[in-house]
Amino acid sequence: KRPVITVIGSINMDMVTVTDSVPVQGETIIGERFATVPGGKGANQAVAAARLGGKVQFIGRVGEDAIGKQLMNTLQQEGISINGVEPVTHTGSGTATIIVSNGDNRIIVVPGANKEVTPDYVRKYHDSILSSDLVLLQFEIPLETVKYCLNLCSEHGISVILNPAPARALDAYDWKKAAYITPNETEAKELFSEQQARDRELDEKLIITMGEGGVKFINEGAVHHAPAYNVKAVDTTGAGDTFNGALAVALAENKPLPEAVAFANGAAALSVQRFGAQGGMPTREELNDFFTERGKEI
Ligand code: RIB
Ligand code: NA
Repeated sequence: KRPVITVIGSINMDMVTVTDSVPVQGETIIGERFATVPGGKGANQAVAAARLGGKVQFIGRVGEDAIGKQLMNTLQQEGISINGVEPVTHTGSGTATIIVSNGDNRIIVVPGANKEVTPDYVRKYHDSILSSDLVLLQFEIPLETVKYCLNLCSEHGISVILNPAPARALDAYDWKKAAYITPNETEAKELFSEQQARDRELDEKLIITMGEGGVKFINEGAVHHAPAYNVKAVDTTGAGDTFNGALAVALAENKPLPEAVAFANGAAALSVQRFGAQGGMPTREELNDFFTERGKEI
């Protein structure tokens, strides 16, 4: 049975410029190429989960504009339910201006319609949320909505993977409502540094992605470090999202945590080899082939 995964999050149109060097203040340079591709952490995670076999429902908002239509279509083409996506009339779709240089990226997000993913909006989709095996949340929608969803899910015993990106602070109490918290290294430093009060319960929920440095997590009391696969990165945009979407599928299928992390790690390694956040996100078959090649079938 395909696990039901609900993503409550952002959808953006990514406006990506690829360039050898990055301009300093006041400087104009000539770049390599430009493309608009669908993105947004929420939508990216939904696509990753759907390609890997999850039955995915998306709850979010777009503008009532051509971009919004296009973004909804791409989700639908991935087999994702968009019953929970209603266009907003007074503001445009979310956008992300992205500079890709030497495989790495810099991103500016303008939330637009994503700001309208309010607790009241989400409340209308209680039934779909409560029918989920697992819920995925990020921080590109209002923080009060994230808290609302954490409460709702914890009250009903539904596991949440909380991807705290971009980094925003929550109370220890709120963090603990998530089953897993998946910051990257920078977010982990900002949100869960040594100075902050931390305890074992919180530590055991953290799955820290470190790019080429692999993934750090605790399983059954022991610290694990899964190394990253050695691949040539063309575009790391969306690698974290691929990791989260894949992790959601694996955990919803009840894979043990180390196996689920390995699964997600492989998916992320494939995603960075193609341009665009959603480009390169593997299907289940592609990911299985990758593990077979690397001698580690999942
Ligand atoms: O995580 C990558 C995503 O962050 C991009 O697709 C962009 O839209 C921003 O939300
Ligand atoms: Na990619």
